[in-house]
Amino acid sequence: MTRRKKIYEGKAKILYEGPEPGTLIQYFKDDATAFNAQKKAVLEGKGVINNRISEYVMTRLNAIGVHNHFIKRLNLREQLIKEVEIIPLEVVCRNVAAGSLSTRLGIPEGQVLPRSIIEFYYKRDYLNDPLVTEEHITAFNWAATQEIDDILATTLRVNDFLSGMFGAIGITLVDFKIEFGRVWEGDFSRVILADEISPDSCRLWDSTTNEKLDKDRFRRDLGNVIESYTEVARRLGIMNEMPTVIQGGKG
Ligand code: TMP
Ligand code: ASP
Repeated sequence: MTRRKKIYEGKAKILYEGPEPGTLIQYFKDDATAFNAQKKAVLEGKGVINNRISEYVMTRLNAIGVHNHFIKRLNLREQLIKEVEIIPLEVVCRNVAAGSLSTRLGIPEGQVLPRSIIEFYYKRDYLNDPLVTEEHITAFNWAATQEIDDILATTLRVNDFLSGMFGAIGITLVDFKIEFGRVWEGDFSRVILADEISPDSCRLWDSTTNEKLDKDRFRRDLGNVIESYTEVARRLGIMNEMPTVIQGGKG
């Protein structure tokens, strides 16, 4: 096999050079980190499940016209994606209070928010991804006003679609984080959804019991992390395509 050039390595994924210009290969690792990598573990099978869940979600979003970087899944851990210029923002959308919103504003976890709230965080590990406002984003040229408008509109569409999709399988979409990137067409660029959408980047609670089915199981040492991710995949109806090791459910 020819050695591929590694373009970037993050905490949970690696990007390799793609087969054609303008493409990359996104590889999903089993590594899990939390609290800016102060807490680390290897969760066997996580990369395989997240690759498949993210493929499923991105494909469904594409079908309703939410353009994104996903092209096709290549194998258990890799997908072919469009190369984008990542906008250095983590865009968080919340429907129910949890996590840093509860901590920062003293709103009890589980309280339904009066409306969906979108927040921006500046994607810089060495600063701990601080919360920023549109003023910071435009003043420092991280994104243009028009791009912010597109990001807000797309994020609300993603929220509506995913809330319905998960709601139909008995899962409450509490919150999620997405990222965007620019694709260039000549002198013009447009913003598309990038990165991944998986239980690593969403809070997903069982609608009946409020049991957590996402990365908070790892962050908060609740156990059964892989079992919970597997349960999300099972309810989405995509478990039959998983290798038997993961279907077995041990992790
Ligand atoms: P937060 O409550 O910790 O700010 O997290 C909000 C959402 O963003 C939650 O669904 C988890 C997700 N998230 C990430 O995907 N990556 C991160 O680095 C952080 C801090 C949160
Ligand atoms: N992904 C982030 C980290 O490693 C934080 C998180 O998801 O909690 O550190």
